[in-house]
Amino acid sequence: MALDDIRDLIRTIPDYPKPGIMFRDVTTLWANARGFRTAIDRLVQPYAGVRIDKVAGIEARGFVLGGAVAHQLSVGFVPVCKKGKLPWDTIAEHYELEYGTDTIEIHTDAIREGENILIVDDLLATGGTAAGAVNLVRKAGGTVVGCCFIVDLPDLGGKAKLHEMGLSVMTLCE
Ligand code: PRP
Ligand code: ADE
Repeated sequence: MALDDIRDLIRTIPDYPKPGIMFRDVTTLWANARGFRTAIDRLVQPYAGVRIDKVAGIEARGFVLGGAVAHQLSVGFVPVCKKGKLPWDTIAEHYELEYGTDTIEIHTDAIREGENILIVDDLLATGGTAAGAVNLVRKAGGTVVGCCFIVDLPDLGGKAKLHEMGLSVMTLCE
């Protein structure tokens, strides 16, 4: 399946969750067996031969993709959660996104010093969420080996922001 076909399987919902936002809905891609399989294969492919110790997936849609990517790489999975969802001690980061602000957290013992972490989410917009996740991983002593997403919204500058932070970024479509 070509990248154009992956893009065609993503639904666009105008004015959700606020007027003016064109919401890119990946659930229609996930519901398609070949689409979901191809998206996961393509997200993983650039990391062949790269040492990855854990995948960090960002709530909520990054849990679905990150879980599948971690399974494919045979590594562990770390949930990067919205504030107040994790039961034990956490490290937190506050960040801005296209339509508001939020706080994300990981458990203090989720990542060990020196571990190589791959960050996974469905979509890169302003890059605020991913940058917050990168900061969490770095605070925990991990090294971010890359950030991968299905969708990039290039007008919002997220890829440039992550490149400025010295990160390798992989996206499947715009
Ligand atoms: C969406 C998306 C990313 C983030 C990208 O999540 O899944 O996590 O926005 O935006 P950014 O690059 O501007 O930070 P959302 O905040 O809608 O949360 P949800 O997955 O819990 O719905
Ligand atoms: N997260 C931030 N902007 C988004 C968009 N336009 N569609 C889906 N998720 C988003």
